[in-house]
Order: sequence, then structure tokens, then C-alpha cells
Amino acid sequence: MELCSSSASLFLLILPFLPLLLYFLYLQQDPKKQPRIHGLKSYPVVGMLPHFIKNKDRILEWMTGIMKRSPTHTMSFKDLGLTGGVITANSANVEHILKTNFGNYPKGELAISMLEDFLGHGIFNSDGDQWLWQRKAASYEFNKRSLRNFVVDTVRFEVVERLLPLLEQAGRDGRTVDMQDMLERFAFDNICRVAFEEDPACLTMEGMAAHESAEFMRAFDDAQNVVKARFDSPAKSLWRIKKFFNMEPEKRMREALTTINGYVKRIVRERRERRKAGLERSDDFLSRFAAGSEHSEESLCDVVTNFILAGRDTTSSALTWFFWLLSSRPDVEDKIVREIRALRQLSGGAGGTGSATFSFDELRDMQYLHAAITESMRLYPPVPFDAHSCKEEEFLPDGTFVGKGWLVTYCAYAMGRVEDIWGEDCEEFRPERWLDDAGMFRPENTFKYPVFHAGPRMCLGKEMAYIQMKSIVACVLEKFRLHYSSDAKGHPVEVEETTSAAARMLSETPEHSWLGATAWRGTSGMGLSSALDWLSEDPLGLHNGRGDWRR
Ligand code: HEM
Repeated sequence: MELCSSSASLFLLILPFLPLLLYFLYLQQDPKKQPRIHGLKSYPVVGMLPHFIKNKDRILEWMTGIMKRSPTHTMSFKDLGLTGGVITANSANVEHILKTNFGNYPKGELAISMLEDFLGHGIFNSDGDQWLWQRKAASYEFNKRSLRNFVVDTVRFEVVERLLPLLEQAGRDGRTVDMQDMLERFAFDNICRVAFEEDPACLTMEGMAAHESAEFMRAFDDAQNVVKARFDSPAKSLWRIKKFFNMEPEKRMREALTTINGYVKRIVRERRERRKAGLERSDDFLSRFAAGSEHSEESLCDVVTNFILAGRDTTSSALTWFFWLLSSRPDVEDKIVREIRALRQLSGGAGGTGSATFSFDELRDMQYLHAAITESMRLYPPVPFDAHSCKEEEFLPDGTFVGKGWLVTYCAYAMGRVEDIWGEDCEEFRPERWLDDAGMFRPENTFKYPVFHAGPRMCLGKEMAYIQMKSIVACVLEKFRLHYSSDAKGHPVEVEETTSAAARMLSETPEHSWLGATAWRGTSGMGLSSALDWLSEDPLGLHNGRGDWRR
């Protein structure tokens, strides 16, 4: 009895020092397996954690600086009590993670469990066989010409019926518009129509047309913000407790999911019933999937939600950055406009095909525009980080150790700024780097440019995204000249937190990032109103002034 109580006292005495003890035991391990952050001091017990906390509001810029300076362009960390992690901007590592040893780097249970109530087991939130069958089915559909034509038509509708009239109106009124907001609404309308032929009409003159659609869009925003909060939290299971007790933000999540699931289920049910009755003849994605009887209602709902997530903010983020970059590069803008006009002339003079938009073939022939958009995403990738989980420990090609269960992230944003990959002018916006001597677009190795991911899980919507982005840019620049308006503090170029849709899902912490879109926002909370504006003053002095908005 006495022996028992003295052991208990000894244990209580040791208890406060236990973390330290564990830490020293950890340091005794193989030195090759030690985490490395180039040029940063590691503190006793807490390791690198203070650096991450100090830089949490500028994590992307901070990590990019470290990876640029690191000889291998990789950083790794393993602090007491936290999941270990590797973040890399090394293309050999990226190839290894995304292709060579693909099986060792799934999304992982932690990430999947945090997204499950929102994305179910859809293509973005599954691994192994569950992912594979969806990938096969989706690739088959994405490769069909009929889907491409359907996408061209939906984009044309949104551009001609909504985007251009809104810009015209703003021009007549001399009003500044928030391009980022417009592009987000555009993308939402468009992806809903492509996914299940519903038109939320978010980009109408009246704003949000149907109440139910407006609710749906808001619910999607909410759900993404809450998922981001789950990923951001250092205690990864805290959200479960909050959910159990229906506390904020999980309360909001519950409400958002009720709206999303109700909306999506209604559409899926109606579609199935119409199909059964032989009334359905549509080309949208849901109809294609619903045509087969092998998909349950639940899996069809997951298809829809995952699809919306994929297409919502990626293109709008890319274009917001693109227009912003263009505002300081009239030389690039002029080349794009010359290319568009030359194509119009080729296809029959002013008006070309007789339409305000461009055909798929015309869009394909816009080589310089393709290069300019690609170059813009090299510097500002809509998905700046992408994280995977490591199944079995190993060493990456550059010698960095990865432990079992660690999160392994590649950082496309940092990769665009690495001289070893892109040369000394890597930070310069130079579309020409993508063109050969004949002015034709020359693609790069996807592991150097993983903006659309690479390997077996590469983005399926890349072509669709280019159709949408090229169509918008060509139609807008053919008619309008955009002027950038900054907030009172001037130039707001700061890669702030991620934004929107996919982006809000992205936690820009080194521990977890999933899918996201970077975007710039004005400083001091100017937010949307200071995003890319047009027809206003020209703080950079690049354009001709307020009146000169119409080409
Ligand atoms: C500029 C626009 C876009 C960019 C930069 C982009 C980028 C990406 C990235 C980085 C991934 C990998 C995400 C991950 O697994 O964590 C991905 C996957 C995917 N993207 Fe995109 N995307 C874009 C637009 C689209 C569009 C418009 C669609 C069509 C709906 C789409 C459909 C998909 C799908 C289905 C996947 C999942 C592939 C899989 O896991 O097998 N994407 N995309």
C-alpha cells in the first residue's frame, strides 16, 4: 500500500516534466529523420511552433521565403503533440508524391473526416476504390465532346445575357464595380448550370433572383467557412465537441447543411423522376450520372456538391488575379486585344461569327491569351497548397524524411517563385515564357507547374476552366478597358488569407491545406469593395482615365 502511494507521488512529480522528457527522447532519434526548417531557430519543447504563430497572418509569404532560401526548397517540422508536416516547392518531390509513390500519399482519414458531412465521399473526399470509380466515371464524361459543347453554350449565355450587360450598365452610370464579386457570381451560376442545369441567376441585374438559390449560395459559403475553421483549429477534434453541443460555428454548419442537402436532394429526386418518365434529355453532369442506375441518391448528391465546389471559386480567383496583373501591364493587354481582333477578322470581320462571344475553335486559337492566363496562375495559383497524408514513413527524393501520418503539402504558390524552376525572372509576369518561336503555346511539365494538380488525381475540369476564363477575358477586353481602383492606402497587393469557395476550404496553415484559391483583397478590411474595380481612377497611372472605358 505504501509502495503504491510513493509511486503515485513520484509519477505526480514527473508529470510536469513529461513533455520535456518525451522531447529529449525524440531528439535522440536518427538525425536524418529530424525535421528541417532552413535558417530558423528551433525552441526547446515547442520547436518551430512560435514561428508559425508569429507568421499566421502571412503564412503563404513567410513559407515561400523559407522554401526559396532552402537548398532543397523543402521545409519539415514535428513539434511536440502536433502532427508532423513537410511542405515542399521541389518539383522532384512533387512528382514523387503525386505520381511515383501515389499510393503512399492519400488524402488521409483526418482530412476526410473533417469534410465528410459536407462533401460525403465524393471525388474530392475519398481515396482508394471509392475515389477510383468516381474518377473513371467522371473522366469518361469530361472527355465527351457533348459536355464541352454544353459548357461553351452555358458560358456564352452567362457572358452575353449577364456579364456584358452589367458592365455596359455600369459604364453608362460611371459606376465602379467589384470584379471579384462578379466573377464569383458568374462562376456559381455557371457551375450550377453545368452540374445540374439549374440557374441560380446570381449575376443578374437584380442580384440574387430566386430566394432559394440565394440561400443555397450563402449556405455553401457558410459550410466552407466552417470547414476552414475546423482545419485551422490546432485541436483537430474540438469541432466534434462543438457539433455535439450545437455550438457556433457548428450550429451554423448544421443549418447550412440542411439548406444544401435539401436543395441538392430535391434536384436529384426531380431529375430521377423525370428520367423515369422519359422526360429528361439534358446534357448537364447530373443527368449524365443519373442515366445509369448504379448510383444511389446519396452518391448523386455527393457528385453535385463536389462538382460545385470544384468549379466555384477556382476560375473566379484566377481571373481576379489576372485582371489585377493586367492593370499594370498595358503591353500584355494590348497584345491580347490584338490577338482577339485578328481572330475576329479572320472569322468574318467585326462581329466575327456574328456572336458577342467566341466559338470553341476561336478560343483554342487564342495562344497568347492562353499563355497570359497560364502565366498569371503560375504566380497566383487558385489552389496555392495541396496536402496529402503519408501512409508509410520514407525519404523524399531531396532527402527529407516524412513520418507515418505526417501531412505532406506541395506549395504551387512558392514553386512559381523558385529560380531553380523558372529562372531569374521567376517573379516577373511574362506570358512569353509559355510561347515557342512560332507564338504557339508550349505546355510545361505538370510537376513544375502543379496548378491543376498532376498525376492520377489531376484536375478534370482544366479544359472547362480555360473555356470559361478565355471566353470571359476575350469578351470583356474586346469591349472594355478595365481600370484598377485601389483603396485609400494604395496598392493592396498582399496575399492575404485565401478567399472564397474552394478557397475558404483551404486552411493556409502548414498543417492542413486542402483545396483553395488565393485572392487579393484590399487592405484594412476594404474587402470586396476594393477588389478589382473598373471605370474608376487609375492609381497606377496606367490607363487613360475615367472616360476611356469603351474600346
Ligand atoms: C482555374 C481553375 C481550376 C484550377 C486551378 C483547378 C485546380 C485543381 C486542383 C489543384 C485539384 C486537386 C485538388 C485536390 O485533390 O486536392 C483539382 C481537382 C479537381 N478539379 Fe479542378 N481546378 C480548376 C477548375 C475546375 C473546374 C471548372 C472543374 C469542373 C467542375 C474542376 C474539376 C475538378 C475535379 C473533378 C477534381 C478532382 C480530381 C480527382 O480528385 O480525381 N476543376 N483541381
